[in-house]
Amino acid sequence: MQKNTPLTLLAGLSPAQFMKRHWQKKPLLIRQAIAGFAPLVDRSTLLAMVESEEVESRCIVRKGAAWTLRKGPFSRRSLPSLKTPDWTVLLQGVDLHNDAVHALLQQFRFVPDARLDDLMISYATDGGGVGPHFDSYDVFLLQAHGQRRWRIGRQKTPELQADVPLKILKNFQPEAEYLLNPGDMLYLPPGYAHDGTAVGECMTYSVGFKVPSRAELARQLLLGLADEAGQNELKSQGAMLYQDAQQEAALRDAQIPLALQNFAFDAVKRAMKEPQLLNCLLGEYLTEPKPQVWFDARPSPPTWPCAIVLDRRTKMLHDAKHIFVNGESFKATGRDAKILRLLAKDRRLSAHLACQLSPEAAALVQDWGSEGWWA
Ligand code: SIN
Ligand code: CO
Repeated sequence: MQKNTPLTLLAGLSPAQFMKRHWQKKPLLIRQAIAGFAPLVDRSTLLAMVESEEVESRCIVRKGAAWTLRKGPFSRRSLPSLKTPDWTVLLQGVDLHNDAVHALLQQFRFVPDARLDDLMISYATDGGGVGPHFDSYDVFLLQAHGQRRWRIGRQKTPELQADVPLKILKNFQPEAEYLLNPGDMLYLPPGYAHDGTAVGECMTYSVGFKVPSRAELARQLLLGLADEAGQNELKSQGAMLYQDAQQEAALRDAQIPLALQNFAFDAVKRAMKEPQLLNCLLGEYLTEPKPQVWFDARPSPPTWPCAIVLDRRTKMLHDAKHIFVNGESFKATGRDAKILRLLAKDRRLSAHLACQLSPEAAALVQDWGSEGWWA
């Protein structure tokens, strides 16, 4: 993928033009983004996935103005019949379970991997949908089967309906309406209100993005820093305890001593002193596998050196000094860093390149193989 090459997927815009003009800014309707697109997962396989503990699923049924929401896993038989209108089932993270869906998600890597989240598939009978709402993240809505009518609008009043189990806008005011056919795609920036209603049987694929909030990042990084400070204390001679040899006599003084306030402030400052540690914690957080993902350790380690293909569930990122894989961080420099960054980018590595890793890096990568992180 080249930044300046026009893509049919983006209505003839290059990734650079799309990012500049539309990303986080304004919608884009792309007729035949993927010409001749057909579902990558058939209906019965998709509906069987609602039974799996490893797939996050929801079933939403509308009866007039009343909505019901059920969270999976549930038995396939407990879904309404295919002849019943006005219901939908949504399956999150299907890219983790299906190679073709994972490959489709790779087409959206003109957005950094650290932002790419998952591919959700919805199945709906005629009239089915999740109601008018907005999402906090950018979304590409690719029509996979049948038709869906999208109504979209910039919402001035974000109030939600009370007493419904979903986030449904109280006063949705659509500004545009589009009927999408298989292969058509609609891009919406965060906060853009939308309502998609199935016209006949319908399947829609949504490419969603990660939007960590400032508070969530602060929480994750501070928790990591606290852990690190605790471990450092264990490694050193003992806890660094507050000392107040200069403390003057207090007469039932309830005020917190300034020196104690400074000691506390200094403790936090010291924990945050190491920018590389913050970068490590961020990379570990961003590559943490989803809660439904667990890898099966491989009983016999692969013969080394060999070609490597990352498991589709493996998350791999890097920064200037580290490689991050599935919630763990590793320092990498020189040729090792170059080769491991290639693995993160291409999600595969030839035996020829694997052979050029230092013995330490090769041992590390073999450990990842034993964990089942690549095949
Ligand atoms: C759907 O596929 O029905 C919902 C997708 C969305 O509105 O984000
Ligand atoms: Co939405």
